[in-house]
Amino acid sequence: MNPFARLLSLKVELFSIANKQLREESLKVTDLTQQLQDMREEYDGVPLRKSDLNECPLAQFSAWLLDAQQAKVADPNACSLSTVDESGAPMARAVLLKGLEAGKFSFYTNYKSRKAKHLEVNPKATMHFPWFSLERQVVVSGSVQKVPVDQSEEYFNSRPLMSRLGAWASQQSEVLDSRETLEKAFLKAREKLGEEPAKPSHWGGFALNPHSIEFWQGGPNRLHDRFIYTQQANKKWLLKRFYP
Ligand SMILES: Cc1cc2nc3c(=O)[nH]c(=O)nc-3n(C[C@H](O)[C@H](O)[C@H](O)COP(=O)(O)O)c2cc1C
Repeated sequence: MNPFARLLSLKVELFSIANKQLREESLKVTDLTQQLQDMREEYDGVPLRKSDLNECPLAQFSAWLLDAQQAKVADPNACSLSTVDESGAPMARAVLLKGLEAGKFSFYTNYKSRKAKHLEVNPKATMHFPWFSLERQVVVSGSVQKVPVDQSEEYFNSRPLMSRLGAWASQQSEVLDSRETLEKAFLKAREKLGEEPAKPSHWGGFALNPHSIEFWQGGPNRLHDRFIYTQQANKKWLLKRFYP
């Protein structure tokens, strides 16, 4: 190899080594273990006694939801909804609680979404309300059913126009090739459906009928207060304290 060609190939090799190092650097995940271990909150809320709790867990939930709203917790009605797929694998995502009627917790979604598919094969779910700034959480578990169509329609029609069109435009949980495709679908829905879009048949509510509701409040020295209501065969609620 002549000296010029050798120099050139050396340069190319050095360049590719430097490039590889840069790529590896950018892929490195910062080790946050120490910071994570140092993140420590002390809870100092007022202890929660059994006698503080309403004998009806739904009344208790309503009171805590209003507390969260008054305390300006962001999205106080947002919860993490857990479902389980046909193989038994759990999955969670946020949804908004939009109703608390007849003892049931309802939310609205796309009936073709992943969560809806899970609920078809396994109609059970858990809703976790994380009101961390109040040192509180509530966990609601139970069986799930679709809400009646007229109830879904009533709620759909109360939503802002753009949200109603969004429900038409989004094939929730399907693979999407680009944002542009979604925006085009939205514009097309707007053009086609105008100002009064009807509820799509693939969109509606689910209502969770709770069989257990847990109320948790942080206490000092990790001695938190935990109470779980469980529904008995006679429909009455049994309330017990649990180790935190
Ligand atoms: C604060 C918040 C509220 C949300 N509320 C809803 C909701 O009420 N309904 C819904 O279908 N998706 C809602 N989403 C989006 C879901 O978390 C989720 O991405 C989507 O429903 C698809 O979930 P899936 O593929 O598991 O079905 C919300 C997301 C956030 C962050």
